[in-house]
Amino acid sequence: MAQREHWGSRIGLILAMAGNAVGLGNFLRFPTQAAQNGGGVFMIPYMISLLLIAIPLMWVEWGIGRYGGVRGHGTTPAIFGLLWRNPLARYIGVLGLFVPFVVACYYVYIESWTLGYALFALFGKLPQVAAESAGSSEAYLKPFKDFLLQYTGMGTQPFYHPSLAAYFFFLVTMFLNYLILVRGISGGIEKFAKLAMPILFGLAIILMMRVITLETPYGSAVQGLNFLWEPKWHELGNPKVWLAAAGQVFFTLSLGFGAIITYASYLKRNDDLTLSALTASSLNEFAEVVLGGSIAIPAAAAFFGVAAAQIIAASGAFNLAFVSLPAIFANLPAGHLLGFFWFILLFFAGITSSVAITQPVIAFLEDEFGLSRKKAVTLTMLILFALAHLPILLPKALDEMDFWAGTFLVVVFALCEVVIFFWAFDPSAAWREINRGGFIKLPRIFFFIMRYVTPFFLALIMGWWFFQELPGYLRETSPTIWITRGALVAIFLALCGLVYLSGKKEKAHER
Ligand code: PHE
Repeated sequence: MAQREHWGSRIGLILAMAGNAVGLGNFLRFPTQAAQNGGGVFMIPYMISLLLIAIPLMWVEWGIGRYGGVRGHGTTPAIFGLLWRNPLARYIGVLGLFVPFVVACYYVYIESWTLGYALFALFGKLPQVAAESAGSSEAYLKPFKDFLLQYTGMGTQPFYHPSLAAYFFFLVTMFLNYLILVRGISGGIEKFAKLAMPILFGLAIILMMRVITLETPYGSAVQGLNFLWEPKWHELGNPKVWLAAAGQVFFTLSLGFGAIITYASYLKRNDDLTLSALTASSLNEFAEVVLGGSIAIPAAAAFFGVAAAQIIAASGAFNLAFVSLPAIFANLPAGHLLGFFWFILLFFAGITSSVAITQPVIAFLEDEFGLSRKKAVTLTMLILFALAHLPILLPKALDEMDFWAGTFLVVVFALCEVVIFFWAFDPSAAWREINRGGFIKLPRIFFFIMRYVTPFFLALIMGWWFFQELPGYLRETSPTIWITRGALVAIFLALCGLVYLSGKKEKAHER
């Protein structure tokens, strides 16, 4: 067995894990979800999900990953096969490749917009509008909406028609991801995270401080914070709010994606896991709740008034990022620079996450087929490049991929993880595995949470998705949705095929 790579230092590991988790979700998805789901009340199910589902699952994923890594495997087909001696286990593990890879196919593209916009902002190439029209957000935002539409080409039929710039920055973003990944775990991902994460936090703090003091005749940032955090108590009984909170916690902490497991597989046998996982999660929560909540929505409220900010939040994360914020910065002193900061912040948040969702397939090719790093990265990126054309060109493909891989299957996969680790494997061995080498010892109550409470809630969420959301989704059809679904099935089957081959290889090896 070839020697597997390891993280170079604890701080590097924590920053890489935080980079994995801190992503576009923190700065865009969180504020829009909170605003749409009860405001301050959103934080109650959010905190409960964090405590009962996410943090336990975080330890489980780190534990599973380190267990596999020590035995030469960084992805779930092989690791589930070790934990549960059942032929099915390896194929359930395919989800740990499928989910991150499919998400990577559209995530990298959106990430590339942030790079394009960063440069546009810096060089003053974004639209200019007169400050006087700010009172009417509709008219004021229109040039920015048109700009985005023109940039992505997402208005045309039957295929989208991305601008040359969009395609160019997509290529550049792919290449930058390649450059990081090809340098490997400690030489690429870790080194980059050590540089990018401090810059990211610095930029976010600068933007937050600038935004918080904003005041115009239409409103103030403080009113925006009040709006975001005012608890709308009547929403607490709404299951939709609970589901949204749990979904957000999953997405932001990268849980159920296989990405944490693969990163954790580069730990050493006795490395601390309990405290490191908690530290990385805390960094993510700081970036999300404090920084993510204090930039976009307060800025929109200050500039357009609270009522308009509410509409903007409801119109989704993309509008907030690529329409409202650049429009706001356009009329602030040093607006070019602020716009640049905003988009570079998003770009760093994005790229430290996109390398994390690309790494599982790379690790799979390295670990199970003995490919060199360079070959594994090149092959993975070429396929990723080809598949990214689905969301780039096909209307509705992005939403379809996001629904299946990024929303539904993450919950399914997370449930499989805990059940395999804490039921099919050996619960006390799993508990010992998580605590080995730990700088803090987990309170015993988490054993019961991981064994009973987390799976219970995950099953509940999964059931809800299955019966409430899935039928509606399946009913919606169009040729491009069917093409996307066909492609997803093909990707899944191809991965199953590879897992089958790797199993044969392993057997031949044993003999
Ligand atoms: N956690 C990332 C975000 O908040 C998304 C992500 C999920 C990244 C899974 C990597 C793996 O945007």
